Amino acid sequence: MARILITSALPYINGIKHLGNLVGSQLPSDAYARYMRQRGHEVLLICATDEHGTPAELAAAKAGKPVAEFCADMWQVQKDIADGFRLSFDHFGRSSSERNHRLTQHFAERLAGAGLIDEVHEKQVFSHTDGRFLPDRYIEGTCPNCGYDKARGDQCENCTKQLDPTDLIEPRSAISGSTDLEVRETKHLYIRQSAMRQHLDEWIDKQSDWPILTTSIAKKWLHDGDGLQDRSITRDLDWGIAVKKGDKDWPGMDGKVFYVWFDAPIEYIAATAEWADANDLDEAAWHRWWRTDEGADDVRYVQFMAKDNIPFHTLSFPATLMGSGEPWKMVNYIKGFNWLLYEGGKFSTSQGRGVFMNEALEILPSDYWRWWLLSNAPESSDADFTWENFQGGVNKDLADVLGNFVSRVTKFCRSKFGETVPEGGQYGEAEAALTAEIQTRLIAYEKAMEDIEIRKATAELRAIWVAGNEYLQHAEPWAKFKTDPDAAASVIRMALNLIRLYAVISRPFIPDASDQMLAAINLSGTESWPDSVKAALTALPAGHAFTTPDVLFAKIADEAREELEARFAGS
Ligand code: 2FM
Ligand code: ZN
Repeated sequence: MARILITSALPYINGIKHLGNLVGSQLPSDAYARYMRQRGHEVLLICATDEHGTPAELAAAKAGKPVAEFCADMWQVQKDIADGFRLSFDHFGRSSSERNHRLTQHFAERLAGAGLIDEVHEKQVFSHTDGRFLPDRYIEGTCPNCGYDKARGDQCENCTKQLDPTDLIEPRSAISGSTDLEVRETKHLYIRQSAMRQHLDEWIDKQSDWPILTTSIAKKWLHDGDGLQDRSITRDLDWGIAVKKGDKDWPGMDGKVFYVWFDAPIEYIAATAEWADANDLDEAAWHRWWRTDEGADDVRYVQFMAKDNIPFHTLSFPATLMGSGEPWKMVNYIKGFNWLLYEGGKFSTSQGRGVFMNEALEILPSDYWRWWLLSNAPESSDADFTWENFQGGVNKDLADVLGNFVSRVTKFCRSKFGETVPEGGQYGEAEAALTAEIQTRLIAYEKAMEDIEIRKATAELRAIWVAGNEYLQHAEPWAKFKTDPDAAASVIRMALNLIRLYAVISRPFIPDASDQMLAAINLSGTESWPDSVKAALTALPAGHAFTTPDVLFAKIADEAREELEARFAGS
């Protein structure tokens, strides 16, 4: 039995996430965690909301709420939606927690002690009306290059020229529109990532099993241009973690907070401490996941994230951990995802284009989404959500193949033998061939899950469902019943055992349907993973009672699909 620590990238607090966000980290991390738990490993799955930064402040202002209240409310919203999708987090924390405040300040103190923090004086735009310094992208004005009047202080969207805020003609605050701006001198802390370049490079070279997507992004940042840059880890904002060295003030840093990307990954650790607190456990309980001097050496730590997060997880966060000089657990494997597109384009929050997590759950139960998203996960390339693909996947895989199998078998059995596993007849050649095929596919499925090849895993699982359908089609129990009821009974016994097997092995992907299938055959979710398919296919003895379940998966009709297409097309 192994110990596996799994973290999903932390969703920003500023709004409800869309299906692309879901499939890019939280959902696959859940399927992987569920699988590993079923295999008997000790798993800790951690997620949290990422609550700091300007976007959180702006979203709160837009909602007309104090930012702390906005974050607390939105955390609950995101938590409820995560539960709705059956995301089996052991803890869903908050990066604004007391634990994260203390840990972030602790890391800053350690880094400073190691000489890895520089204090840098720089000029920044201050808005009198807003009463704050403005980040570059919150300053707008006319582009000196092309005349576009909504250019941002970091870049002109129209001609792509990189800009400094002082380049803009008639600059104004993007928050209030105010032009009452002033350039002021201010001090910020920079983490000396450049000093850790070699260390990081060597560490990444040792990760021979990382996916190419992950290493290539990390290497690009390490070696392109001037190589790894020192990075500012403080901001002039109200909402965030106060800049301190441990619990001591940091001279000259009053009123400043740590940059959201500095404290967010530290929340992986802090959320584990929150988990221990929430379960009345001691410090050692979370240290054994994170401190290599207290047992975490034996832990396999796997992170899930979309590809834009990879630099922060391969370079910045490791630099924080290494730079501390303390024995923190470093990640063992990073699973990165490409983008999910919506009908060939981008999901867009502002234009209401695409499906958001809350809307998805209003339309259909979570298993429909889980299955489609995971079986189409953007692993090796971007993937495209279209309503047509979604309808096709649901109707074919879930309704026609799996759902129909369960329904035909149980209904036929009820009408001919009653609601118990029938006795009579024996398994023969067809059953042996089916068992062998499923055994081979199950091994491939398990390997894909070990390797976190989610699409491959779902393809094997689907093939196992299909194999059962084909068996039933050829065995024709409905025809056999007329001439040889015993032969029909053995086919149905096999088929009922297949339902049990399907319920167990499909559980990481469609946990609710798995529950329904198990409940129908009077079993619970604790059924163990099949070591041998042969043994698993005789697990239900003759005489075992079941109840014929309701329809597992309903088909999506063409009219319903067209309606959804129109509803989500965006403005
Ligand atoms: O990209 C995002 O959604 C970030 N909120 C991810 C943070 S991951 C971690 F480092 F906290
Ligand atoms: Zn321009």
